[in-house]
Amino acid sequence: MQLSAEIESQLVAFTEILSTDGVERGLIGPREVDRLWDRHILNCAVAATAVSRETTVVDVGSGAGLPGIVWAIVRPDLEVICVEPLLRRVNFLTETITRLDLTNRVQVRRGRAEDLAGEIQAPVVTARAVAPLERLVGWTMPLVAPGGELLALKGAAAEAEVAAAAKTIARMGGDRVEVSEWGRGMVDPPTRVVRIHKSTTWR
Ligand SMILES: C[S@@+](CC[C@H](N)C(=O)[O-])C[C@H]1O[C@@H](n2cnc3c(N)ncnc32)[C@H](O)[C@@H]1O
Repeated sequence: MQLSAEIESQLVAFTEILSTDGVERGLIGPREVDRLWDRHILNCAVAATAVSRETTVVDVGSGAGLPGIVWAIVRPDLEVICVEPLLRRVNFLTETITRLDLTNRVQVRRGRAEDLAGEIQAPVVTARAVAPLERLVGWTMPLVAPGGELLALKGAAAEAEVAAAAKTIARMGGDRVEVSEWGRGMVDPPTRVVRIHKSTTWR
């Protein structure tokens, strides 16, 4: 993945915000600071390639903006809605998108995913480090538009999580599932993305 100088400097600016305000405000653990770039920023950035072009992404449980803000930076063709229930994190997200000049493409929505069914739907929904896949699928598939997809950023146990969630995936309208790996040679371990396609006939 090649990053332009402008995109790289925005990622560096976001990393700086996370390692200062993010730590002071309790969104990032102090021990994460040294590994923010590899373990969080690049880990999210490499997976942005998995997203189709010029679409809208809902990032459920965005926390400090991972992957939502990183994806908005590395993919200027995307619109992003960061969903987050906790006010403290919503305030941080809102201030951060203003500081990074992303307000024209990134929105923040306060709420729990399961309470937003019927209010938000988008072609792509993502989540990172929010819940085991089985629970995540139940919360997030109603937010995926028919024919769209859930892209869950997962770790080494991705396949096992898919197996455990198989019945829920089918019950929630998932008709194709694939696990892919991104960033080999750039991030260790590579980021694993569980892609669950939602049937076009499913609301
Ligand atoms: C461990 S943090 C991960 C944050 C970020 N995605 C990351 O990778 O660093 C989990 C986040 O999910 C949010 N969350 C928990 N339950 C949720 C729900 N039902 N709907 C939406 N967000 C939720 C929490 O408030 C928290 O910000």
